[in-house]
Amino acid sequence: MDRVFLSPPNMSGREQEYIAEVFKSNYIAPLGEYVNKFEKSIKDYTSATDALALSSGTAGLHLALRVLGVGQGDVVLASSFTFAASVNPILYEKATPIFIDCDESWNLSPELLKKAIKSAPKKPKALVLTHLYGQASKMREICEICQENNIELVEDAAEALGGFYDGKALGTFGRLGVYSFNGNKIITTSGGGMLVGEPELVEKARFYSTQAREPLLHYEHKDYGYNYRLSNILGAVGVAQMEVLESRVLAKRAVFEIYERELGDVLEFMPELENSRGNRWLTTGVFKEKGMHLKVIDALAKQNIESRPLWKPMHMQPVFKGVLSVINGTSENLFERGICLPSGSCLDEKTQERVIKIVKESV
Ligand SMILES: Cc1ncc(COP(=O)(O)O)c(C=O)c1O
Repeated sequence: MDRVFLSPPNMSGREQEYIAEVFKSNYIAPLGEYVNKFEKSIKDYTSATDALALSSGTAGLHLALRVLGVGQGDVVLASSFTFAASVNPILYEKATPIFIDCDESWNLSPELLKKAIKSAPKKPKALVLTHLYGQASKMREICEICQENNIELVEDAAEALGGFYDGKALGTFGRLGVYSFNGNKIITTSGGGMLVGEPELVEKARFYSTQAREPLLHYEHKDYGYNYRLSNILGAVGVAQMEVLESRVLAKRAVFEIYERELGDVLEFMPELENSRGNRWLTTGVFKEKGMHLKVIDALAKQNIESRPLWKPMHMQPVFKGVLSVINGTSENLFERGICLPSGSCLDEKTQERVIKIVKESV
């Protein structure tokens, strides 16, 4: 039987048409009209004031820290319950991370955020906040705390395109936000990312993303930069994918609803804050019994079905041993019990029934 993936790509059908236009124009790179169109479609959907298409979400997070002036010795607060890509750019800039645990929302705890600010060795410069698995963090409280303490908010919305809180797109609360179009994301360009936010900062990031070239005929550099932009071919894929984003969110949410209905007595699912709509990028839940998730993952793997444990928190990662962390045990507990279930926007009901049956039989 064909392998069932966690979150495979799901093309709209128009990608090749747009790619063909790019080839017809011969202008496959650098940049080009489809990159501009892709940026515009993200601005239109999220109401972000500016957008910059990049080679990855990680590049977006790196540029965000760079243009906010984060550097050696600066303290950067970050969600502990996330993927390493959220926080690696803190190390690229030789800044000092402090990891903060989550609360019952599975996203960053505002209470622990306050505690971290108090216990930090110096005033933190920025917070990298992850909206995990496409679900919103407690934005009202978190924005207020950041404002009161003059901390720059960078939203890692890599997994959360299509999510909203108080009617506002996730990724557009901070001065800068980032989306990913990695192969497993809700929409994909095979690889890619988007930095959104204040035009002045995004403009600065645009400059750094193309090797910090001064606007002169010859190559003049007063600063150092990166090669972080997206090709016109991938821009074309992005435009086609943006046309179906909303339908992909609805499909993912429908997948979640079936799991919730069928597995509600064996799994406690990641919650959704009242005033929000997550994109349910992955359906995730925890079993009551510690270690049960591994048994289920194994049973699914035997049937060629991919599932995974939840992200291992950053404060538990060997690479971050010794990093100051403000924790309450929540993310550790989730990691020891949690599972990500196959959540493709193209997952058909029959396959999902098969997944559900295996989960039920193995607990
Ligand atoms: C939470 C989170 N942050 C950042 C990233 C990095 O995005 P990319 O793979 O596009 O660099 C990802 C996904 O890969 C992610 O899941």
